[in-house]
Amino acid sequence: MYKQVLKCLEGYEKVLDIGCGSGWFARKCIEAGHCYIGVDYSTEAIEAAREAAPEAIFYEIDIAKDQEIIKSEDFDIVIFISFLEHIHNDLEVLEAIPLQKPVIFVVPNRLSKGHIRAFRSAEKVFKRYGQIIEFNKVFKMRGNRWIDWVISGIRLPDGGEFDFEVQEVK
Ligand SMILES: C[S@@+](CC[C@H](N)C(=O)[O-])C[C@H]1O[C@@H](n2cnc3c(N)ncnc32)[C@H](O)[C@@H]1O
Repeated sequence: MYKQVLKCLEGYEKVLDIGCGSGWFARKCIEAGHCYIGVDYSTEAIEAAREAAPEAIFYEIDIAKDQEIIKSEDFDIVIFISFLEHIHNDLEVLEAIPLQKPVIFVVPNRLSKGHIRAFRSAEKVFKRYGQIIEFNKVFKMRGNRWIDWVISGIRLPDGGEFDFEVQEVK
């Protein structure tokens, strides 16, 4: 799944990663040549991330409470990997993205520890997020334990039509 996200990031310089975790993906992004800004509310995750990727910038912010960094224009693409299912106000957070900004998000098909929602189909993902994000590419990624939906799109005022094909990737 991370490989697919990296592919979708090609061509974008400055990546804002919300719910970035402990820096493993930050490292991959730096190695791929991106400038990287990571945000997480866990002090431990941010400390580990700063060690793993000293070239990147990290902020300790609770995004459920404060979305100012997402409202800024100072990034080329914003990504949410396995994050939106952890917060109640996921729609409010996505609505904070400036219009026309590219977005990648990854959500799961199964509930697990800390998840408050999951999506059995790409249609269900579209039903929740399709009015905020225009879906350009949708990947169904089969992992060891569950399926991840990887969505690459654009923040638009009314989202877009359900006219995408789901590409299955193993
Ligand atoms: C499942 S992990 C995913 C980490 C990383 N994106 C990855 O794919 O490896 C979810 C991350 O979101 C962070 N998180 C959860 N709620 C948050 C919030 N309200 N604000 C910022 N970060 C949050 C957690 O601390 C954790 O690092």
